[in-house]
Amino acid sequence: MTTQRPLYHRFAWAFDFVVPDASAGRVRRLASLLRSHGVRPPARVLDAGCGTGNYARSLARHGYRVVGVDRSAPLLAAARARHAPATAGPTFRRADLTTYRPTAPFAAVLCRGVLNDVLGGRERDAVCVTLARALAPGGILLLDVRDWKRTAARKRAEPATERTTHTARGRLAFRSDTRLDPTRRRRRGGAVPRETRVSGIASDPARNRCTTTGAT
Ligand SMILES: C[S@@+](CC[C@H](N)C(=O)[O-])C[C@H]1O[C@@H](n2cnc3c(N)ncnc32)[C@H](O)[C@@H]1O
Repeated sequence: MTTQRPLYHRFAWAFDFVVPDASAGRVRRLASLLRSHGVRPPARVLDAGCGTGNYARSLARHGYRVVGVDRSAPLLAAARARHAPATAGPTFRRADLTTYRPTAPFAAVLCRGVLNDVLGGRERDAVCVTLARALAPGGILLLDVRDWKRTAARKRAEPATERTTHTARGRLAFRSDTRLDPTRRRRRGGAVPRETRVSGIASDPARNRCTTTGAT
């Protein structure tokens, strides 16, 4: 089972308001990790699950040749639209990480914020096979996963998160209601975008699915 969040599709335009941006500090840390493991520009780097390409673009600015792969067409469209044509930016490809096979191996693979979406054991195994096969011998894999204990403690203390931001399309409010499932060590619910001028989406955390609710 792989999570299909509204933010990756209908609300893809709001993605960068919700998902933490590639801050200069984070990217410097990534670039420094790559360099310390011998992966220096212009080495090839795969950004697996690149979203709108924030990390792919930043690593390209550091001189890496980056391929960003994602299965969300709207997020890739946003990624391509943000690339300044005059600069040597990343290449973006649409693919599912459970089956993606690059034509040439990469010196490093970055997989940031992606594995938390891949909930089924079989899919997770398939993504791990892809990441392993994408790497050249001795290549570096940089990935993150959510830590259950810390996430559970944080969400027990504060199950609801709300944020409001003003966008060119109107006021956008996010509400995330989390229910913890200690048996399966899963978090239910997620960021729920609501926009004042177009239809909104509300989640049904009990069933972990999203339903359209109409204008808010
Ligand atoms: C939370 S976002 C992180 C995006 C980006 N790595 C970043 O840090 O800004 C997770 C991304 O993983 C992508 N994704 C999740 N499962 C995927 C899969 N099986 N194949 C390809 N992309 C996937 C989603 O479409 C989404 O763009």
